[in-house]
Amino acid sequence: MTNRADMTLTSSGFFTSQEAPITTDNPVATPSSPPPDVLRCAYMELVVTDLAASRVFYVDVLGLYVTEEDDEAIYLRSTEEFIHHNLVLRKGPVAAVAAFSYRVRTPEDLDLAVAFYTELGCDVRRNPSGFVKGIGDSVRVVDPLGFPYEFFHQTDHVERMSWRYDLHIPGELVRLDHFNQVTPDVPRAVKYMQDLGFRVTEDIQDDAGTVYAAWMRRKPTVHDTAMTGGDGPRMHHVCFATHEKHNILAICDKLGALRRSDAIERGPGRHGVSNAFYLYLRDPDGHRVEVYTQDYYTGDPDNPVITWDVHDNQRRDWWGNPVVPSWYTDASLVLDLDGNPQPVVARTDSSEMAVTIGADGFSYTRPADEEAMPEWKQGEYKLGHQL
Ligand SMILES: [Fe+2]
Repeated sequence: MTNRADMTLTSSGFFTSQEAPITTDNPVATPSSPPPDVLRCAYMELVVTDLAASRVFYVDVLGLYVTEEDDEAIYLRSTEEFIHHNLVLRKGPVAAVAAFSYRVRTPEDLDLAVAFYTELGCDVRRNPSGFVKGIGDSVRVVDPLGFPYEFFHQTDHVERMSWRYDLHIPGELVRLDHFNQVTPDVPRAVKYMQDLGFRVTEDIQDDAGTVYAAWMRRKPTVHDTAMTGGDGPRMHHVCFATHEKHNILAICDKLGALRRSDAIERGPGRHGVSNAFYLYLRDPDGHRVEVYTQDYYTGDPDNPVITWDVHDNQRRDWWGNPVVPSWYTDASLVLDLDGNPQPVVARTDSSEMAVTIGADGFSYTRPADEEAMPEWKQGEYKLGHQL
């Protein structure tokens, strides 16, 4: 439970503490087996219903590099990547996520993954020749939250395209940055991910201790994945990084020029959480893709954990721009290991949209001003009071 007396209120308006201020009364059991040593989020396998349409979006518009492709799947990577791929687009009947895949430090970490998830009673499958091209020995599980997680170490190395300026475009996507998952019970998810070796960097809470979202990392950035409170398990977005803000603006200009501005769902803007500059797009199946740049280093063991008040109107957008309702409500289905969509369970804790947008919600820019604000300025007034 949140105790803000134990946190430090910063001059930027959020709180910091040393340990993640999140506890759960509904924990996933902690396995006695140690977790695999996860290096980073490595790739996502997305099922798409029209491979040609998705190829136009990810290759022709966003400029990801094709490592390999056939009639069934396209293997894509970002500029700086040296492993086989960061995204697999696989043709299928239902748009969904087949795998959130993490790279582990050594081949032996796969034995640890098997032991860890077997102890949790999960569906665990190991394929010594990999589940997709370019990836060797792999373990796939349906994790305790219902997500299809994959772990691998061996992968084919491919050319890093950083020096190929002749091929770069103004909106160059240089790295896979993170996943974002929707799950009903965020504290339960956080505790399980901590057991898997992840550390919380930021979260959003209210002063009663309800947790609306949490960001967690293995690599020394703000996150490898985030848990967003909502009906789940579902995939909220997959995110690629650019080097600079202007690369994100160039993507917006290009989408406008192509008369594809309807692919832009939210942004561009500056996040409060993570401090990153962002843009959210929707692919031809509605899968959400974020483009993101300039978050911060988090690798020290005493990296401060940041807590945002859910009513702080600058938490999701530092400029106070509203979050569109679809961003809160829409997300992609995820599949079990046989390719069937996982059932979606409703969130029972309060929803962030309900407490911040519309007649019942309120938000502040300066907390002390709330009482004195005219009605038209209360709430996320740029959108909320129009709903
Ligand atoms: Fe994100």
